[in-house]
Amino acid sequence: MSLLWLILMVLGQTEGDLSISICKQTVSAPGEGKVTEVKIENEKDIVTSRSCGRKLAADLGFSAVEQARITAAISELARNIYKYAGSGTICIRSEEEEKRVGIYIIAKDNGPGIQNLQEAMLDGFTTGGGLGRGLPGVKRLMDNFDITSSETEGTRVEVAKYRIIHKRGLFRM
Ligand SMILES: Nc1ncnc2c1ncn2[C@@H]1O[C@H](COP(=O)(O)OP(=O)(O)O)[C@@H](O)[C@H]1O
Ligand SMILES: [Mg+2]
Repeated sequence: MSLLWLILMVLGQTEGDLSISICKQTVSAPGEGKVTEVKIENEKDIVTSRSCGRKLAADLGFSAVEQARITAAISELARNIYKYAGSGTICIRSEEEEKRVGIYIIAKDNGPGIQNLQEAMLDGFTTGGGLGRGLPGVKRLMDNFDITSSETEGTRVEVAKYRIIHKRGLFRM
């Protein structure tokens, strides 16, 4: 295991304590799972969104490494909102099915939008003097990735990660 993952995991322990007091989960409708919405308006909110994502991922039984991947993706999306749109929201939701559980993250803002999505998805493309690896990195970290953006509507990134449930039983095939 690399040093980076180790650091991410140690950070995760501190986040775990923090998230208990700040992540208010609501159940939207029967069977729809838990939802947490975090407004992104400053640097602190980015940390909050990470913590809430880690808490839900842990509650859903994702491994420490998967939790680190999920929180890294949330960080990138929240940071993009803060940096390029000024403000927006990170919505984190769970969905529990018979054979798998999923964590869904929707990052949305009403900012200026992304002019060329294909370009923005290229490794190394940046208009903000960054590394330009945020969006392509998020795509690699998660199982599903969907992005829409326009000058009038802002940007919406929807990502998901799944965990297959292995049921133990005498008659498992
Ligand atoms: N929410 C957003 N609103 C407007 N533009 C964005 C947003 N997120 C990303 N972008 C654009 O996409 C580019 C690539 O983003 P990213 O891959 O995260 O790299 P970086 O943040 O290092 O520039 C950004 O430089 C910016 O031009
Ligand atoms: Mg970025």
